Amino acid sequence: MKVARSIQKFRAARAALPSPVGFVPTMGYLHEGHLSLVRLSREQDATTVASIFVNPTQFGPTEDLSSYPRDLDRDLDLLEAEGVSLVLVPEDGEFYPPGYDTWVDVEALSTRLEGASRPGHFRGVTTVVSKLFHIMSPDRAYFGQKDAQQVVVIQRMVRDLSFGLEIVVGPTIREPDGLAMSSRNAYLSPEERAAAPVLRRALDAAEAAYATGERDGGRLRSVVSDVLANELLADPVYVSVADVDTLEELDMVTGSALVSMAVRFGTTRLIDNCILGAHAQA
Ligand code: PAJ
Repeated sequence: MKVARSIQKFRAARAALPSPVGFVPTMGYLHEGHLSLVRLSREQDATTVASIFVNPTQFGPTEDLSSYPRDLDRDLDLLEAEGVSLVLVPEDGEFYPPGYDTWVDVEALSTRLEGASRPGHFRGVTTVVSKLFHIMSPDRAYFGQKDAQQVVVIQRMVRDLSFGLEIVVGPTIREPDGLAMSSRNAYLSPEERAAAPVLRRALDAAEAAYATGERDGGRLRSVVSDVLANELLADPVYVSVADVDTLEELDMVTGSALVSMAVRFGTTRLIDNCILGAHAQA
């Protein structure tokens, strides 16, 4: 496995790689969620490339950029063991040089759900992912359903800007007790960690209500909120039952729906989601 520390070195090594090339973008501190995406690529691409970059532009001024967990040596060992051919680990300075002034913004979709409580977050994501797509020139790029809105926003960007690559979405990988794997789980105190599986239980309750015929968006949101309310350490930021394409809140679920939430445990903010109806996924 080659590790490129600059865009130029990455491009030089990329040119020799056999197609199709699959790309897994990450911010590092890798876990089974990230590795599941690498494995999906290894199953269907001739070559798998990855990036590790804690992208400063997708963090708000009060968010955890400086404390975001990092372990580059371990991450590189894990990627090598999974058969990744080439990894880009860029320097901040190279990605955003002085005078950097160019942004990619998927306007309306980026303001909903996560975007409402994290203004500017998706502009940072779509900008860095555009930049990575230009550098990597992948045939396929892999994203986790764990970050459902990120998937919707990036799919729209790829369509709108004619990137000409396929987005592959992998299922959410969970701990045995149901908590979705996340680098941010490392911040939880033992008490918060014990409480955090309430997110999965709240989604289960929505799925159970849907299975017994509940289609009222407001009532489905209440089902989720009621489960969260029973956990004292859980402080919900939002609970949503939204259209899977437009991310607008639904009064009634007619086709499929994205159930999603953000919940604070102390200073740690966790997200989770599931899809009700036609496109059911993990
Ligand atoms: P990061 O949080 O490191 O996640 C990298 C990829 O792993 C994303 O596609 C994310 O959805 C996926 N992922 C994380 N946890 C997962 C889980 N439990 N199961 C399945 N997939 C999971 O998402 C980002 O980085 C950044 O926004 C990035 C796209 C790299 C742009 O900076």
